[in-house]
Amino acid sequence: MQSQTASLISAELRRRFDTSSRVLVLTGAGVSAESGVPTFRGGGNTAVWKGMPFDVISSAGMIERDLPAVWEWFDYRRNLLQAVEPNAAHIAIARWQDRFPDFTLVTQNIDGLHQKAGSRDVVELHGNIWRARCVACSMTIGLNEHRACLGCGAHLRPDVVLFGELLPPGAYERAADAASDVELCFVVGTSALVYPAANLPALAKRAGACVVEVNPERTPLSDFCDEVLTGNAGDILPLF
Ligand code: APR
Repeated sequence: MQSQTASLISAELRRRFDTSSRVLVLTGAGVSAESGVPTFRGGGNTAVWKGMPFDVISSAGMIERDLPAVWEWFDYRRNLLQAVEPNAAHIAIARWQDRFPDFTLVTQNIDGLHQKAGSRDVVELHGNIWRARCVACSMTIGLNEHRACLGCGAHLRPDVVLFGELLPPGAYERAADAASDVELCFVVGTSALVYPAANLPALAKRAGACVVEVNPERTPLSDFCDEVLTGNAGDILPLF
């Protein structure tokens, strides 16, 4: 007898999964939720840090106004991540890169858990919490005790995209190019409220792709998707 979760996958979706070669996966904070990483918005509440909503402490102006506070916020989040391991959803997605001839993984997450699960060549739209970037020459380095650029001596900042900032050069373009030429697009664990990331499923749909959402909650994308798989990514993705 098929489990309730397994029955979520329609015959048509199974057929698409078995026959597609060009596939894109877009992930958000929800894919890391089962690893114990708090999401930003899911569950109706918004993360707050020292009385400041996360979208204030994570805004571009803070770099000028209070860079030490920005480091403190990301140091806190990085400490949360120290003991965190990828979950079944990350592992399933990492397996897919060897299954599909043309596979693109695009993430909004900065936690590095996809790479820890074995995913290669991940398109990081919002940067990575394990890196720092020079505020003057933009050189990026793996995090270490230095808070000054080894190249030009200027201040280092977390290599993450803050609200009001541009995405890393070429990242969105690469994701959009891939999305515009796929047969199957999975949207996993994102509230689809933040642009331009939330635009990618529309590009895939326009290219004729089957768009599949995996989320325990409905999002602004749900009505637009061909398939909506309601539940946790860690339960659903391993079924494929
Ligand atoms: N499996 C799948 N989805 C889940 C799970 C789970 N186990 N748990 C929660 N979710 C869903 C929630 O229902 C919600 O729709 O994940 C989504 C998380 O949404 P957000 O917290 O808004 O995260 P995200 O969409 O990634 O935010 C986008 O906003 O704050 C900025 O830069 C930050 O990259 C982030 C961007």
